[in-house]
Amino acid sequence: MSQPSSRDLPLANRRIVLGVTGSISAYKAADLASKLRQAGAEVEVVMTPAATRFIAPLTFKSLTGRDVVVDMFEAAETEAHVEVARRADAMVIAPATADTIASLAHGHAGDMVSLTALATAAPILLAPAMDSQMWEHPATAANIATLRERGVELVGPATGRLASGRVGPGRLAEPAAIVGALRLLLGRRTGDLRDRHIVVSAGGTHEPIDPVRFVGNRSTGRMGFAIAEAARDRGAEVTLVTGPVALETPVGVRRIDVQTVAEMLVALEQVTARSDAIIMAAAPADFRPAAPADHKIKKAPGQERLVIELEQNPDIIATLPGGGVRVGFAAETRDLAAYARQKLPAKRLHFIVANDVTAPGSGFGTETNQVVIFHDDGRVEEFPLLSKYAVAHLILDRVRERFPRSS
Ligand code: CTP
Repeated sequence: MSQPSSRDLPLANRRIVLGVTGSISAYKAADLASKLRQAGAEVEVVMTPAATRFIAPLTFKSLTGRDVVVDMFEAAETEAHVEVARRADAMVIAPATADTIASLAHGHAGDMVSLTALATAAPILLAPAMDSQMWEHPATAANIATLRERGVELVGPATGRLASGRVGPGRLAEPAAIVGALRLLLGRRTGDLRDRHIVVSAGGTHEPIDPVRFVGNRSTGRMGFAIAEAARDRGAEVTLVTGPVALETPVGVRRIDVQTVAEMLVALEQVTARSDAIIMAAAPADFRPAAPADHKIKKAPGQERLVIELEQNPDIIATLPGGGVRVGFAAETRDLAAYARQKLPAKRLHFIVANDVTAPGSGFGTETNQVVIFHDDGRVEEFPLLSKYAVAHLILDRVRERFPRSS
């Protein structure tokens, strides 16, 4: 695959100020800074003096390639304190201590973190971390309520074992969850799919043979999950209807789990009643056992064969009446173009994303995909091997083009 493009990096060209304050969990902010960089962001770190007791500014300087500002007086000389705040697309404070939360709520500017928060017009995401007693204290609760009213967003705190040994709310959210919350926040504010409801289906289905066995396929759900993630990053409200898969739900995405084609159909009928697009990336089983057994099928002595009769499942996308812009997939092992073209009218699709699942780098379980898009007006677009996330954006670009102009 070629160099990652901005279409592979969800935070490309975003300037993120990371404020780090004095909590034992400050070490996790190093992982967060690294994840933000990997996602393409430019990261500028500001720290409170207390944070430097837990983790060295040099760690962040090495991870971000930029100077870290701790001393507000030094920063004031170069006007850096206002500059950092002005340039930001978003500010994340992780970990945010009870003390910093109090400072923010009361508009204090006694250190670089609270000063930057006060001086920026960018959205602020707080990831609180403290002992549960402090988190639950009415003073902290009131400060959080004030900040929420002002539009500050929160991720966590998670509940679990705390540094004090106590178990309760107060753990810093995991860095991956913080990055997810940030992508959601930025998408909701600036994404080109804001106010759109996009429904995505993903994964294969499990059609029961008996209570312990099923008929299934090799779909891992990766393509559908990448579409859900990309749509979330662009500000859409996303509903993901998925068969059994081993993937984390992207932050901010509504997930509905189903097992069978029958269940997937019911779920999709409900959620596409008010959707702007349905992107059918799932691999529903075409056939299901005609008479699943109520009990585990036992082998009889000497039994050499077991015949399971299969009956056809409904074609979900062909059955769904509307859903807005309709996108299908065609996973083929031969005659890609002919089969994909047949499926367009049969399933009433605006376009179909076809791939040869036997090609290297395409198909089940890979992180990449090489697709051809066939449109209902006869246009055909061929693409190189790309990450599934980049393919997701290509699909969403084309979905967006199909939205009625007036709405
Ligand atoms: N699809 C569906 N319901 C099914 C089977 C498939 O909605 N019961 C959808 C898939 O999600 C995909 C498109 O139809 O978007 C094409 O799926 P594919 O498996 O390639 O084709 P089939 O319609 O199953 O046709 P065939 O088995 O002949 O290839």
